[in-house]
Amino acid sequence: MNSDPSAPVLLAARNLVRRFGGRTAVDGVSFEVRAGESVGLLGPNGAGKTTTFSMITGLLRPDSGELLLGGAALVSDTDPIKRRLGLVPQDLALYEELDARRNLGFFAAIQGVERSRIPEAVRSALEFVGLSDRADDRVGTFSGGMKRRLNLAAALLHDPDILLLDEPTVGVDPQSRNAIFDNIAELRRRGKTLLYTTHYMEEVERLCDRVIIIDRGRIVADDSLARLRHRAGAGAELRVELEEPAHGTLAGTLGAIPGIGTVRIDGRTVNVMVGSLVGGSAAVLLRLEEAGIGVRSFSAEPPDLEAVFLQLTGRSLRDA
Ligand SMILES: Nc1ncnc2c1ncn2[C@@H]1O[C@H](COP(=O)(O)OP(=O)(O)O)[C@@H](O)[C@H]1O
Ligand SMILES: [Mg+2]
Repeated sequence: MNSDPSAPVLLAARNLVRRFGGRTAVDGVSFEVRAGESVGLLGPNGAGKTTTFSMITGLLRPDSGELLLGGAALVSDTDPIKRRLGLVPQDLALYEELDARRNLGFFAAIQGVERSRIPEAVRSALEFVGLSDRADDRVGTFSGGMKRRLNLAAALLHDPDILLLDEPTVGVDPQSRNAIFDNIAELRRRGKTLLYTTHYMEEVERLCDRVIIIDRGRIVADDSLARLRHRAGAGAELRVELEEPAHGTLAGTLGAIPGIGTVRIDGRTVNVMVGSLVGGSAAVLLRLEEAGIGVRSFSAEPPDLEAVFLQLTGRSLRDA
């Protein structure tokens, strides 16, 4: 666990608001990230994650609210303290016509890396993401996964303390995804502070100490994974396979049992959140028995973040 409650707050957002026309994309967001923490910003598409990052990196001005970096207010885009930040943008920002080395050389220059140090910074970033052998190849010839890895390398050239990673694994093959996970885990091990957006809960479960759940521009939870699971009122998530596809009234029947949370039914599969593993399981199985519904199999798991999100917002993370 990297979270150290006595570590200094490196990044703080206070009541950030950003509107686009009549739509409020970020609606009063406040959070703190401590040095060395790895924090997941989890929310469905359109929740306001990228807009929040754009305000942190100075690409967008908040309509109101405040951002503090290392305790000092971030005011202008050219503020020198911004050099402590590195952004891995959601949309790839690479020059397809240039080779990998020249791409990184360009980014190192705009990030203000001293000219004499650029070749070494580029070499070491390419090595870190495992692309040394492709340094002289045009980025246009790279796979989606390799481009994502180079996109990560581009954020590391000036050796930032805080890395903002905006959906860094979107659209990559499993092998590159694992390579990116390994890179991020290594950055975390080196003590970098990470803020990581995704709508894949398994990434957060794998990489983050703490999770901030954002939905429709608002933070709905900010806690450790263990406490979030607990808070969802969830002793367990039950999965029952029925002998026959469920009848339309079953969700209501099960939902009426005291201590039962969300019920999701898909054909023969029933997922139920219960406040207590033993009591909830017994009550659900008994009710099915009473209703004459045959059970083929039954299992119980601690709730995952998807279940937690559903419990908190009443909507599914993926299609919210
Ligand atoms: N430049 C923009 N102009 C208008 N609307 C925008 C712009 N950027 C984002 N939005 C809107 O703001 C909301 C939040 O978007 P975004 O921050 O990209 O969400 P996320 O990164 O969580 O998917 C969405 O409704 C999106 O359509
Ligand atoms: Mg986004």
